[in-house]
Amino acid sequence: MTPKHMLVALALIGGLPWAHAQDGKEIKELLQASGCMSCHSVDEKVVGPAFKSVAAKYAGQADAVDTLSQSVRNGSRGKWGRTPMPAHSSLSGDDLKKLTTWVMAQKP
Ligand code: HEC
Repeated sequence: MTPKHMLVALALIGGLPWAHAQDGKEIKELLQASGCMSCHSVDEKVVGPAFKSVAAKYAGQADAVDTLSQSVRNGSRGKWGRTPMPAHSSLSGDDLKKLTTWVMAQKP
């Protein structure tokens, strides 16, 4: 890992407030570009669950980011209701991790 990657990793793990602020715009664009916001919002159930509800459900699970990344990549059904989430197989591992790390940071 280069020092720059270390910083990004640290920021993702959740320590650095300034890094979050800088990432804010990028993550919003990624959410929009990936189509997430047509089915999700932070606070309210739309087609899929509110991201705050997701963060609450998986809070305290060490592997939450991995679990959620798999759900987003492969699609998910039956965990939240009867509507399934389609697969997002074209997202890179990096983007999946950014998205799901951000989801887990949405505190109720
Ligand atoms: C077509 C609508 C739709 C789109 C687009 C969509 N989702 Fe979902 N999402 C859902 C539904 C419906 C569920 C609930 C699935 C279930 O019950 O298992 C869900 C569940 C989730 C979950 C919880 C998964 C779990 O294992 O509990 C996460 C995290 C999530 N979505 C993130 C995203 C992200 C990030 C994107 C953009 C890349 C996205 N979603 C795009 C509809 C969508």
